[in-house]
Amino acid sequence: MLDLHKPTVLLLDTDTISRNDAEKILSSDYNVCSVSSAAMIYDMLASQFPALVLLEADMGDTNGFHILETLKDENSQFKNIPVVMIFAEPDTSAECRAIETGAEDYVFKPYVPTLLMKRVKTQVDAVYRSSELEEQMVLQNYMGNLSEIAHHEIAIASDLRDRILRVVANLLESRDSVTGGHIERTQKGVAIMINPLTERGIYTDEMYGWIVSEVVRSSQLHDVGKIHVPDSILKIPRRLSDDEFSEMQLHTVYGAQVIEKMGEGIAEIEYLRHAKAFAESHHEKWDGSGYPHKLKGTEIPLQGRLLAFADVYDALVSERSYKRPFAHDEAVNIILAGKGTHFDPIMTDVFREVAWKFELKH
Ligand SMILES: [Fe+2]
Repeated sequence: MLDLHKPTVLLLDTDTISRNDAEKILSSDYNVCSVSSAAMIYDMLASQFPALVLLEADMGDTNGFHILETLKDENSQFKNIPVVMIFAEPDTSAECRAIETGAEDYVFKPYVPTLLMKRVKTQVDAVYRSSELEEQMVLQNYMGNLSEIAHHEIAIASDLRDRILRVVANLLESRDSVTGGHIERTQKGVAIMINPLTERGIYTDEMYGWIVSEVVRSSQLHDVGKIHVPDSILKIPRRLSDDEFSEMQLHTVYGAQVIEKMGEGIAEIEYLRHAKAFAESHHEKWDGSGYPHKLKGTEIPLQGRLLAFADVYDALVSERSYKRPFAHDEAVNIILAGKGTHFDPIMTDVFREVAWKFELKH
């Protein structure tokens, strides 16, 4: 975060060593925001209003003079910010061109601490003598700081939400006869499956706009609907009868309802949208024989098709009162055999490649 008592210097230098040198020299008196490319300087200017720009003249592809012209254009909001050009070696014609284009001064590399500090200070002091520019600078930096504080607060709130929901999910899990750790393991399984999809551009339309970390986190609520399933069903230490199984199936519908209630009265939250899709569709099957809605193929939300692998794998390799735990290879083969019937065939091919990671995560 910026120190509001110090002026900000924006430094564009493509060389890491000299950039670090400049930061060390200037940081006692200035906030130094350093960037290593032309694109980054424009990003930085969108949130910071520096007291001075230190700009490398020769950067290969993007010439520093082009940036200087843009900054000093008569319509530019940055035209009054002093620019000190950085040269690798003396070059009279380039130095003249810098001054003619609007730069206030120039320095040479390697930086000489006394000279760099003095040249920056001279220009920054001139800025502070111009009250209009100073006001603009302080206001812009204040807004930048507010935005940084807001981002920090949002990150804390998001982390807290996640921790609370994890406690809720784990409390629910403790009612079940399912072995502990199911929620964490399925969450990891979702991450294992989702990463290759994004890397290979599979189902990009369905994943458009997804924030993968949010999607993975929201999967922890997939069995939240079990809160409405009575203990007399949840704790049965044997395979369920048809009637009992029908009642158990309702946890998907209950889950969607519970999550919908969580978001009532507030704008749609991505996290809850994904959580609802996970809860409602993780027991659907590709051929339409799943539950609760008997959806088929890509009618099943991608979240449900994803979670199916992690959920089934975990159920297979875990011990239950009515079954032994399957070995990793057995579980993988059972899932591969479900390609196109239980599981999305494209994702089953992905699973075949990443299944070894499930064993490590289990
Ligand atoms: Fe479930």
